[in-house]
Amino acid sequence: MNQDLAAFRAIVCEHLPNADSGILAHFRDHGSHGLSNTQIVDACILLFADGVENVASAIGTVMLTLTEHPEIRAALIEGKMKLGAVIEEALRRDAPGQIISRIVRRDTELAGLAVPAETAVFLLLGSANHDETVFADPERFDCQRDLEPMLTFGGGRHSCIGAQLARSQISAAVNALLGADIEIVTRPGQVRYVPRFGHRWPQFLEARIAPNRRRQPS
Ligand code: HEM
Repeated sequence: MNQDLAAFRAIVCEHLPNADSGILAHFRDHGSHGLSNTQIVDACILLFADGVENVASAIGTVMLTLTEHPEIRAALIEGKMKLGAVIEEALRRDAPGQIISRIVRRDTELAGLAVPAETAVFLLLGSANHDETVFADPERFDCQRDLEPMLTFGGGRHSCIGAQLARSQISAAVNALLGADIEIVTRPGQVRYVPRFGHRWPQFLEARIAPNRRRQPS
């Protein structure tokens, strides 16, 4: 991954002076709003990493949830349930990005623990989404629950700028897969996850056309 990041960084740096449209050209022509080239390049990398792989994993996670809950899949197909609520709850239980990191700015106390300034901390979004003091019976799939405090897309001033785009991409993909009668055969207990720190990305999901819903040849 480090090699890929270095190669990607080199490509973006190479294109920065020559970009003729888009975000790179904007930064070059209108100043970088106090961002260093490294920060600009890192933001571009984040767009690719989050904008592509998190979304793909989220689509898999939602489809997997529908395998686990065929009654919800059926309700969606019959139009009796809102896909948006299903996506939110599926991504609360299995957030594609499990961790964010911060540097503590000033001496802080957190849950009785002293955290000195300049300490690097990892904040566990996946764990917070399963906090039983916030979400009753957190392992249970319940798309009626209040998801206001869920942290799948982070929180505060650096929360995900792509969240709405991600939601509409996931929704379009799941709708298309349901419309094409595609279902995931891999059972939730069989899923292997990409061994990458801080992520929960299904590595591989086997899919097939649902046997009892195959369209008759016309
Ligand atoms: C299911 C898909 C996605 C998930 C789970 C996700 C998750 C997150 C999380 C947790 C953060 C907060 C990071 C932090 O506080 O350190 C974040 C930030 C960000 N996301 Fe996403 N993201 C997704 C899709 C996208 C998409 C589609 C885009 C853009 C095309 C995107 C662009 C960004 C950017 C640029 C930030 C940084 C915002 C900032 O620092 O101010 N993300 N994302």
